[in-house]
Amino acid sequence: MLENNMPKHVAVIMDGNGRWAKKKNLPRVMGHNAGMQAMKRIVIASSQMGIKYLTVYAFSTENWKRSSEEVGGIFNLLVKYVNSELKELNDNNVKVNSIGDYEMVPKSAKDKLEALIDSTKENDGLIFNIAINYGGRAEIVRGVNKLIAEGKVEITENDIANNLYTGNEIGNIPDPDLLIRTSGEQRISNFLLWQCAYSEFVFTDVLWPDMDKSEFIRLIDIYKNRNRRYGGRS
Ligand code: FPP
Repeated sequence: MLENNMPKHVAVIMDGNGRWAKKKNLPRVMGHNAGMQAMKRIVIASSQMGIKYLTVYAFSTENWKRSSEEVGGIFNLLVKYVNSELKELNDNNVKVNSIGDYEMVPKSAKDKLEALIDSTKENDGLIFNIAINYGGRAEIVRGVNKLIAEGKVEITENDIANNLYTGNEIGNIPDPDLLIRTSGEQRISNFLLWQCAYSEFVFTDVLWPDMDKSEFIRLIDIYKNRNRRYGGRS
């Protein structure tokens, strides 16, 4: 049963892995490793709390600008995550999806991601969307180009929404109710630009690797106390 006011869809910008590592004098990749552990905690917490959709920003179209060591490290973590977590994801009835153009990611990570999506496809609990090589503007352009290719001459909002990664390809994911960004930064950074039109934004100074269930519950509670008006009056 979904508790009163619970967000149905939570989107997360998992920020601060690098600063967490720096504070501890560790290589950046160790920050991403700790970030992956935090991601595991939040997936299970979301599933236990009855959240229906969780979308995380794991790798943006801009992240390719980082060193090849860091980029390779992030994709190796994806492989590691799939190897170690598949059973727990299935035990928790989590269904994994991916948004973004993951054709470009290293083959080992792409193969693992596809296997993960395939082996969880019958689950009907939490839908966990991993955004990989994702950019919001590129997503809108891709959708519009698909419509042009179909010969559409007049495009509606629904047409665009249906042709985003979150559209009918993966069963129409509703727009996020809540967008969380960690580490004190307060930007959208090209994440779910179309879908966040009416989302509530909640920010925390906690660095992503330090994120745990109690902080996540605190952020959800902030959301629950918001008065959503969608441009209307309360
Ligand atoms: C932002 O922190 C984080 C990322 C760019 C990567 C997120 C990756 C994970 C949480 C690991 C799990 C990965 C997968 C692919 C499942 P930052 O590096 O920008 O931190 P900073 O702003 O402190 O430098």
